[in-house]
Amino acid sequence: MENFTYYNPTKLIFGRGQLEALPKEVQTYGKKVLIVYGGGSIKRNGIYDNVLAKLDEIDAEVFELSGVEPNPRISTVRKGVEICKSEDVEFLLAIGGGSTIDCTKAIAAGAKTDVDMWDIVTKKEKATDALPFGTVLTHAATGSEMNRGSVITHWDKNEKHGWGSPHTSPAFSILDPAHTLSVPRDQTVYGIVDMMSHVLEHYFHVATNTPIQDRFCESVLKTVMETAPKLLDDLENYEHRETIMLSGTLALNDMLSMGLRGDWGSHNLEHAVSAVHDIPHGGGLAILMPNWMKHILSDENAARFKQLAIRVFDVDASGKTDREAALEGIEKLREFWNSIGAPATLADYNIDASTIEAMAEKTVIARPEFGNFKTLTKADSVEIFQASL
Ligand code: NZQ
Ligand code: ZN
Repeated sequence: MENFTYYNPTKLIFGRGQLEALPKEVQTYGKKVLIVYGGGSIKRNGIYDNVLAKLDEIDAEVFELSGVEPNPRISTVRKGVEICKSEDVEFLLAIGGGSTIDCTKAIAAGAKTDVDMWDIVTKKEKATDALPFGTVLTHAATGSEMNRGSVITHWDKNEKHGWGSPHTSPAFSILDPAHTLSVPRDQTVYGIVDMMSHVLEHYFHVATNTPIQDRFCESVLKTVMETAPKLLDDLENYEHRETIMLSGTLALNDMLSMGLRGDWGSHNLEHAVSAVHDIPHGGGLAILMPNWMKHILSDENAARFKQLAIRVFDVDASGKTDREAALEGIEKLREFWNSIGAPATLADYNIDASTIEAMAEKTVIARPEFGNFKTLTKADSVEIFQASL
């Protein structure tokens, strides 16, 4: 293992009816509250009314920013920063999925600086402070509810970047699985793919002696794979939503990556695709990740793939080379994602070869090389995109 310090300050409030805790939690930080939400799902499923009733209990003065886009945009972040500054907002509450939470993180940091948030997102500048914020999670996918990361898109520039700071962990996150019962089938699938991808990103690392981390990762993957088909057959099943919701948080709250650095190349590739084509993040990962695996598989790293194949995908490796067993595991991952209805090719989103060059360019916009398990360049991005058409 590599040396590490683990610190995660987010208070996780999990379970049925836990919205009850909201007034007490918010009161600690102030009464001028900006609620941030997306395109209206929280109004249709009643979460909006329930949250407002809870904020009313503490006589909160509530401001609203609605319309946060999936793949949230810097223009929306700037609107939120403006409200915070003009109204002296004391606390932010994100109600939604990863996009709403990521946007809220950027607003929280932007409210405490005169630097334009795009310069912070692109790491030209650093966030030095942030307003406190909490989340009411309505979609199990990104883990943003319990990490400091945020991913923001500049649509005019077709750029999408991840950033984060010690100031952008949620103070608390309320996770009631019942809040996810209304997530439609396609978004549920994207969330499942995303959380599995996060675990797989951790799994591909070069640290040695990581048996506990490996077993944690494998158990999250197995659990998600066992639960996903049952949930997709019965989208309003509370217990399956509960399992998936906790899995999504554990997949990216840094617990699985203690003492190691995951690869994150597939995420870099996907962010480049959605920067140009605005596709759902989980959909992009389902297309790209198995192709990234095939692209980087070599005799030197095949043992790690083989371990995954045997332990998670039940591949019988007897009489096979490491590479053969590894490839079988990768095929089983593809088959699983196909079986739950995830997209498998860029053509599923009407993306053809004409934008490969533009997308590949985006993969190296921050640095000329990327990936911690296997270092890749723009030429690799082109090949992986071609294999994904
Ligand atoms: O906008 P509304 O109307 O709320 O609808 C949303 C949206 O259309 C809908 N939805 C959410 N909860 C619902 C619901 N519909 C019905 N019932 C509910 N209870 O679902 C759609 C997708 O929501 P979104 O927040 O965009 O999805 P997700 O949570 O997958 O977030 C995706 C964003 O997070 C970034 C992605 O790149 C993308 O921009 N990521 C953030 C990470 C992080 N902060 O740690 C890591 C990830 O790897 C990822 O990159
Ligand atoms: Zn992701």
